[in-house]
Amino acid sequence: MRRVLDSLPGYAPLPALPLDHRNSGYTYSMRVLGIETSCDDTGAAVVEDGKLIAHVVRAQEIHADYGGIVPEYASRAHVTLLPRVVKETLDAAKTSVESIDAVAATLGPGLVGSLLVCIEFAKGLAMARGIPFVGVNHVEAHLVSAGLEQDLPYPFLGMVASGGHTEIYLVTAPGETRRLGSTRDDAAGEAFDKVGKVLGLPYPGGPHVDRLAREGNARAIDFPVARLSGDALDVSMSGLKTAVKLLVEREPRPISAARLRDIAASAERAIVTALVERLSQALERYPARALTVAGGCACNTLLRREAGRLAEERGIPARFPSPPFCRDNGAMIAYAGWLALRRGASTPLTATAIPNLDSFALG
Ligand code: KG4
Ligand code: ZN
Repeated sequence: MRRVLDSLPGYAPLPALPLDHRNSGYTYSMRVLGIETSCDDTGAAVVEDGKLIAHVVRAQEIHADYGGIVPEYASRAHVTLLPRVVKETLDAAKTSVESIDAVAATLGPGLVGSLLVCIEFAKGLAMARGIPFVGVNHVEAHLVSAGLEQDLPYPFLGMVASGGHTEIYLVTAPGETRRLGSTRDDAAGEAFDKVGKVLGLPYPGGPHVDRLAREGNARAIDFPVARLSGDALDVSMSGLKTAVKLLVEREPRPISAARLRDIAASAERAIVTALVERLSQALERYPARALTVAGGCACNTLLRREAGRLAEERGIPARFPSPPFCRDNGAMIAYAGWLALRRGASTPLTATAIPNLDSFALG
């Protein structure tokens, strides 16, 4: 990634600016268009001086019929939706393609066909306009996304919990991101979605489980919380998924609405306990000045409450992106792109999709 982020000859390196721009009063006046199509959401945003000007996200409904993302349908839908989403974003920002100073797109990780849509669109635009292109790590963009709305002081501890990722990171300084742990099997969002499926809820199940759980008794059933041996700050979700499935199979039919709410609440408690226990252990080992949780699951009511409580106990601020920026969106890509540009980085136009991108480069 670092090699990928080397500037191409012909791209004048941008001046490196003070990294603590929020405190220095220094702003980097650059209008960045960010584009995200790594999975099944088509998003675009304009960020200027690190501030969001406008953003648009279109979710692809088609996947709900299949109970999961169909990669070929996702990329086809991005091809159709992306030009419209970009146009709507530029209109909402009261700007035009001619006034954009740089374009950022997700380089990975993600579905290769979906990634190619935003990358090739962004590179085409960069080439046509002669402006820099920045390839962004999607997970890193989630990780720093709270910084778009609030101050996120270093070093901070962050969890990205979504449909494809459940990882804990320590970010000691801009560009110094270290993974401390990850899931050994399912991502937290996958666990929520599988619980939703077993309970007969629409896909993706996460928001529906959240809604039901708010009215259920979280102590009704003691689902297992995997406590892994060893030092790694990893989590495991597969035991819970099996436990919920077995319980529901054995339940007398029909399952009452009240019982469904209790199962949802108890399963949610097990998922959130596993995540927050790991965050707590991470905070014990690594001093941090803030705690952030990002990704689709950061919308979860209980996770926000429990992670917020943990941060309060440690006397540090909890930073959660507001719900539209927890899920996949173009704003976090534009913001992450702006951070990279501010450090003088841009990506050569020879770069292309990296479906399993696993390195970090932002500041
Ligand atoms: O970040 P995201 O939009 O896309 C990925 O990169 O995966 O995350 C989607 C995931 C889905 O699994 C969805 O069920 C979950 O986030 N999710 C939630 C909630 N809202 C979205 N999980 C639990 N509670 C929620 N309120
Ligand atoms: Zn994501």
